[in-house]
Amino acid sequence: MISKSTIDKVYETARLEEVIGDFVQLKKSGSNFKGLSPFTDERTPSFMVSPVKQIWKDFSSGKGGNVVAFLMEHEHFTYPEAIKYLAKKYNIDVEETERTDEQKQEVNERESMYLVSEFAQGHFAKMLWESELGKAIGLTYFKERGFTDETIKKFGLGYCLDQWDGFTTTALAKGYKLDYLEKTGLTIIKEDANNPNNPRKFDRFKGRVMFPIHSMSGRVLGFGGRILTNDKKAAKYLNSPESEIYHKSKVLYGIYFAKQAIAKDDNCYLVEGYTDVIQLYQRGIHNVVASSGTALTPEQIRLINRLTKNITVLFDGDAAGLRASLRGIDLILEQGMNVKVCTFPEGEDPDSFAKNNELEEITQYLKDNSKDFIQFKASLLVKEAANDPIKRADTVRDIVHSISKIPDRIKKEIYIQECAQIMNISEAVLFNTLAQIGKKNLTDASKKVKQEHKAFDVVKNEPLPEKVDIQYELERKIIELLLLYGNEQEEFEDLVLKENEEGDLILEPESLEAKVYEKIYLDLQDDEIELTNPHFKNIYYKLIQELNHKEDFAINTFIAELDQEMMAEITSILMEEEKYILHNWESKDIYPKDKKFGVSQLVSETILTLRCYLIKRRMEALQHSTSEKMGDNSETLEEIMNYLQLNKLLNKKLNRVLS
Ligand code: CTP
Ligand code: MN
Repeated sequence: MISKSTIDKVYETARLEEVIGDFVQLKKSGSNFKGLSPFTDERTPSFMVSPVKQIWKDFSSGKGGNVVAFLMEHEHFTYPEAIKYLAKKYNIDVEETERTDEQKQEVNERESMYLVSEFAQGHFAKMLWESELGKAIGLTYFKERGFTDETIKKFGLGYCLDQWDGFTTTALAKGYKLDYLEKTGLTIIKEDANNPNNPRKFDRFKGRVMFPIHSMSGRVLGFGGRILTNDKKAAKYLNSPESEIYHKSKVLYGIYFAKQAIAKDDNCYLVEGYTDVIQLYQRGIHNVVASSGTALTPEQIRLINRLTKNITVLFDGDAAGLRASLRGIDLILEQGMNVKVCTFPEGEDPDSFAKNNELEEITQYLKDNSKDFIQFKASLLVKEAANDPIKRADTVRDIVHSISKIPDRIKKEIYIQECAQIMNISEAVLFNTLAQIGKKNLTDASKKVKQEHKAFDVVKNEPLPEKVDIQYELERKIIELLLLYGNEQEEFEDLVLKENEEGDLILEPESLEAKVYEKIYLDLQDDEIELTNPHFKNIYYKLIQELNHKEDFAINTFIAELDQEMMAEITSILMEEEKYILHNWESKDIYPKDKKFGVSQLVSETILTLRCYLIKRRMEALQHSTSEKMGDNSETLEEIMNYLQLNKLLNKKLNRVLS
């Protein structure tokens, strides 16, 4: 673990505008910097960096955060990777906190396995480029496949000499431990009964050309090795075994080289094999990854989902296997991604197609032939079941099954309509089938704890109403006030109910000194108001606590400790202030906001507006319930009267604040 003091030092030292400046051209604009969004293709700058607040906001993609969030978004670093990157940039020594012996050993073991893999990659590349046999066999093979020197180097391809233990011997001589050579699968150990102290060692990849497999951040995790002979008994590709650093189901071949392009093009091409990736990449299509011959796993889809919502699956020309592959795509739909598919002409795969065509032809082909997955599947099934009524029924269930996986309800509906047309069947039948499957899905879900999560996702993804949500805006405003002025001492004026000399109740102005956060906290507590938005509620309590404990509350350090989602929320609050146009608020019928009125007024106004709003809602609810209920309503009516009075009082206060 990186120590807290190192992390603090990194945050203190790093200048956001400098860090981002390494990736994006920034221009000064007022007190901020502006640039073109690095996350989307656009011609007008909508990417803003605030040196004062040390936060950034990309208005075209909605992303934003602090310096670490930028590196995590842009470079797809993990948190520790981002901290280490910054430490390196600013010459800060990274101090690792003490770990338990067990943890140490685990980390050391993984680290050692990474090092062995890195060494192996270098060794295999060296053999390819420098040894006579490597050049004659391995390099010639890659050249024949059409790979350029540049490509071969980029992907770190190599060759493992056709010797029993050439690699293992070299690695041992260099001081790499046999234990790690075995754990990474690079060396296979066979116990020798005659010689128990000296087991026999073999190179797993003997005589194969090597494709290193990289993690998202570029570390070598394992290898695929392709045989060069026509040996029918040996597997064409041999892969590193599962190990502590290589989990086949969690990696995608090529993701390290593709990640930037995937995010930028907002699409990911998915192919089957190593050579498909390399060939397309060499032609200039960089947003491509391979599942390495197996069906996609949910973890692999999640890797892509971090970068884009759009995926295009490229299928080999042979129709066999296509049907089987279609099933697997439901998993992608389930994660809310948009799926297209593209098939190649008979006998071609992405590798051969890319090799035999120029970039323009390939892009044109992909453009013309990529079809929406559901439509594609529906058309395919219709063709197959043309004259077979029973098969047709199965087909309907099959396609609706796919549609049922889509979390977005609106999309689901559109697909049902389209499929009804393609399959020449009534929408009602499809909707019915969907409802049946939906019910079944739900029952299954309640059985499995794991799947409960998915049911929740469906609810979460229900489309939100478009109109301005006043309560949301007000709660958000409260967070903004706390963030910007929480610690400021202000004079607040309030109307307090008092008894005058004649014994009548009157409202008297009274002023009171308090910190902004105290005022907000106490007022909301008075009314037992809780923020309803779970994000805001969470941030609210965190903020109050921080403000209460720290004299020198600073936004910068506060957001550094939040998770990404919360950080994004806060940055957007802070940055929006930069570009907000005042009358925007009035037109939304919320309340006028003008800084010149001062902070205290803004605070009072916000709280009062929220209170009025909540009371109005409460009254509406009560009125609604009286109109539905028969019989005695007197209690409810009394409550309504009370609220009316309170509302009048609050409005008076609000008017006073506003005037
Ligand atoms: N694969 C594998 N083990 C095998 C066969 C295939 O791991 N025995 C994986 C590899 O990742 C391979 C992918 O499945 O890249 C696709 O297999 P295939 O289409 O047979 O290979 P190609 O990539 O087309 O390889 P080549 O063109 O070199 O024959
Ligand atoms: Mn191939």
